[in-house]
Amino acid sequence: MNNFDFYNPVKILFGKGKISELNKQIPENAKILITYGGGSIKKNGVYDQVMSALRGFNVKEFGGIEPNPRYETLMKAVEIVRNDNIDFLLAVGGGSVLDGTKFIAAAAHYTGDDEWDILAKRARVDKAVSIGAVLTLAATGSEMNSGGVITKAATQEKLAFGSPLLFPKFSILDPETLYSLPKHQIANGVTDAFVHVIEQYVTYPVDSPVQDRFSEGILKTLIEEGPKVYNSETPDYNEYANMMWAATMALNGLIAAGVQSDWATHMIGHELTAFHGLDHAVTLAIVLPGLMKHLKEKRNVKLVQFAERVWDITDGDDNSKIDMAIAKTEEFFNSIDIKTRLGDHNIKQEDVDRIIQRFTDRRVPAIGMAGDVKTDDAKVILEDRL
Ligand code: NZQ
Ligand code: ZN
Repeated sequence: MNNFDFYNPVKILFGKGKISELNKQIPENAKILITYGGGSIKKNGVYDQVMSALRGFNVKEFGGIEPNPRYETLMKAVEIVRNDNIDFLLAVGGGSVLDGTKFIAAAAHYTGDDEWDILAKRARVDKAVSIGAVLTLAATGSEMNSGGVITKAATQEKLAFGSPLLFPKFSILDPETLYSLPKHQIANGVTDAFVHVIEQYVTYPVDSPVQDRFSEGILKTLIEEGPKVYNSETPDYNEYANMMWAATMALNGLIAAGVQSDWATHMIGHELTAFHGLDHAVTLAIVLPGLMKHLKEKRNVKLVQFAERVWDITDGDDNSKIDMAIAKTEEFFNSIDIKTRLGDHNIKQEDVDRIIQRFTDRRVPAIGMAGDVKTDDAKVILEDRL
């Protein structure tokens, strides 16, 4: 196993009715800015629950954070935080609201010339406003990690950032808040969490049975619970709860400790969102089968393990086990109506060329952290998915 530091200070309040405990999590004299998205929280009652829990507190609000949150929008909130001396940000929404709020928290105290450098130059975050979260979409793990992804509309860039100062102080996860999700967002959530685990598990063996079995447990839970939640006519609390906790556990640092992570599927996927506006999870479901196929030999050991332990494939030689596991993975995404080909989304060879040109211009030695996906590999992977 590799050496590691593991640090995760996020307090999780999980379960029905937990939003009512908000007032015990935030200092009484705090100047709070509640951040949210396009209004789903006003339709499903979450906003009312939050406001009623915070009765008597000093609260302002900032709505309108888009899916794939935009730098341009978030900078308006940064102004409010600075002008009104906000000292607590409460994000209420999905990953986009949480990520956007992390950026607001970091940018408000940023002393450099251009806040976009937090992303473009990975400028260090030395100080940040405290954050809390009420999660309404199970997918990204943002509620229990210190990273985020922000889009700059002006340049069609989508970049990641992070700092230990950006862990939420607490996150409230009430599975009942998920009942109002449209079906395709449930499918997105299951797919995103699934690929998060894969990017920390299907890499290279380092003799890590604890991390591997955690990963396999999360993947199997998503395979079992995801379609149940997706197909249910009436919501079943435990199915939603299991899906929600699986998504959080998929990206809170635990399964990444001591193993090789990758993130090439995410890096390539982010470009598809940046140029074409595809939902984050959809981009991952497109890229992942191509990436696994292309890295079949290099990642042979973990791919075979994935086939045997997650998909229970025991017949055939290693090569056919891997082929079947890749096919089953894609079928799983398709079974919850995620379309996994670039052509399904009207993305063509010239669009692939534009993405590859961008990677070439950036001159990164490798895409992702495992070091086995270079720009040329990304081209093969994407062309395979046309
Ligand atoms: O904006 P509102 O009106 O709230 O509607 C949202 C939005 O339209 C809606 N929604 C959320 N909760 C709902 C609901 N609708 C009904 N009922 C509810 N309970 O869902 C739509 C999508 O929301 P969004 O927050 O964009 O989805 P998600 O949670 O999938 O977040 C995606 C973003 O997270 C980033 C992605 O790149 C993308 O920008 N990621 C963040 C990561 C992290 N911080 O660690 C890791 C991920 O890999 C990912 O990159
Ligand atoms: Zn993701």
